[in-house]
Amino acid sequence: MPLESNVDIRPATGKLGILLPGMGAVGTTFIAGCLAIRKGLSSPIGSLTQMGTIRLGPRTDDNAPLINDYVPLAQLDDLAFGGWDVFEDDAYVAASRAGVLDGHMLEQLGDELRAIKPMPAVFEQAYVKRLHGDHVKSGASKWDLAQQLVDDIHRFSEENGCDRLVAVWCGSTEVYREPSAVHQSVEAFEQGLRDSAPEIAPSQIYAYALLSQGIPVANGAPNLNLDTPAMLELARAGRVPVTGKDFKTGQTLMKTILAPGFKARMLGVEGWYSTNILGNRDGEVLDDPESFKAKEVSKLGVLDTIFQPETYPDLYGDIHHVVRINYYPPRGDNKEGWDNIDIFGWLGYKMQIKVDFLCRDSILAAPLVLDLALFLDLAQRAGLHGVQEWLSFYWKSPQPAQPGLYPEHDIFIQLMKLKNTLRHLMGDDPITHLGAEYYD
Ligand SMILES: NC(=O)c1ccc[n+]([C@@H]2O[C@H](COP(=O)([O-])OP(=O)(O)OC[C@H]3O[C@@H](n4cnc5c(N)ncnc54)[C@H](O)[C@@H]3O)[C@@H](O)[C@H]2O)c1
Repeated sequence: MPLESNVDIRPATGKLGILLPGMGAVGTTFIAGCLAIRKGLSSPIGSLTQMGTIRLGPRTDDNAPLINDYVPLAQLDDLAFGGWDVFEDDAYVAASRAGVLDGHMLEQLGDELRAIKPMPAVFEQAYVKRLHGDHVKSGASKWDLAQQLVDDIHRFSEENGCDRLVAVWCGSTEVYREPSAVHQSVEAFEQGLRDSAPEIAPSQIYAYALLSQGIPVANGAPNLNLDTPAMLELARAGRVPVTGKDFKTGQTLMKTILAPGFKARMLGVEGWYSTNILGNRDGEVLDDPESFKAKEVSKLGVLDTIFQPETYPDLYGDIHHVVRINYYPPRGDNKEGWDNIDIFGWLGYKMQIKVDFLCRDSILAAPLVLDLALFLDLAQRAGLHGVQEWLSFYWKSPQPAQPGLYPEHDIFIQLMKLKNTLRHLMGDDPITHLGAEYYD
């Protein structure tokens, strides 16, 4: 169904509950950040919904409201936070352990953070080998576990007086798996749940439980989840919006900023060597080759669609693209993403670019969780459902609107698409940047 223009968007009245399967570094940095901003202790830097503007009409109109004033988004004061984790640490303890935010900041949010306690997780060791937690559910079958999640969802919603819910997977990266027969339809998936099929991963049980209750879901990790026919069928049937996957934060953010620039100037690329040192729990989980494989596939996919090697074989036909992640505990959450890029210009002369991004992983990811939650909620109130391709902006591995379409990785095209979608929903003209009206 084509995207309709000037749609009726239900108002964002009442409370929006944000559910996070996985309340580790990203999850708690997101929650604590929202609480801190709400209290006026800090500002929402990195969040497009909170700080971004959107131009409307010709440049001469000088009309560029805040996105938050233009589209009806849920406001920070109206958010409630909850989730699940395999460790029973409340959000204060988990945030302290993650070591992203300083103790002084966390102390000021202490009571609110301590009140946010994760619900017991659906977990299977085989899917995250380096994680050993005991705050987990037990059940007669995977179907039973899904029903327990549904009960959790309703209890959370009632206890927190929520009018609407959205979910963002902030759990660990599960091992790499290809879709199998149980992922091909809702019917096969439900039978798989009853049979406790080993091919069904915990993250998929959450997605099933959430989508079956009409709750929009975003997948922040690279593992197989919303990108299966079964989940898409479920989303379509319940008219629920979904989006994924794998937050685009440190090194891949840099890649999708730089690569479109090289291509715009028709500069060739011979090689792109990327390595990371990372010392948080995510780094430890990714130290397992099977979890790393899921991440590697996600990170490697980016360059091909930006460079279009089949269209530009002389420039990009033979790129050596290598991605490494090294678990190195002393760095904690403060990752170092290092890139060596071998490019070539006029007459094939070679040049090199080195990028050393001393980033903070969860500081980059937290505002994306907020934007995704608010935009998914907007999408649902606007009657959008299925894959929300306009949210590709946030992902390392964006899901195309239809199977077979190539995904859009160029961050500048992604941003234009996002803003034009907002204009379209609100009944304003998209901005093409043609500017024909300004010429004499
Ligand atoms: N931080 C970033 O910049 C970034 C970028 C892209 C993707 N990601 C992905 O986001 C996810 C979260 O990253 P993080 O740094 O917060 O990692 P983390 O290890 O600090 O947090 C993940 C949490 O998920 C929990 N968990 C694992 N399996 C679970 C399950 N089945 N149910 C409930 N909880 C479960 C873990 O116990 C842990 O507390 C990871 O998959 C990571 O790869 C992060």
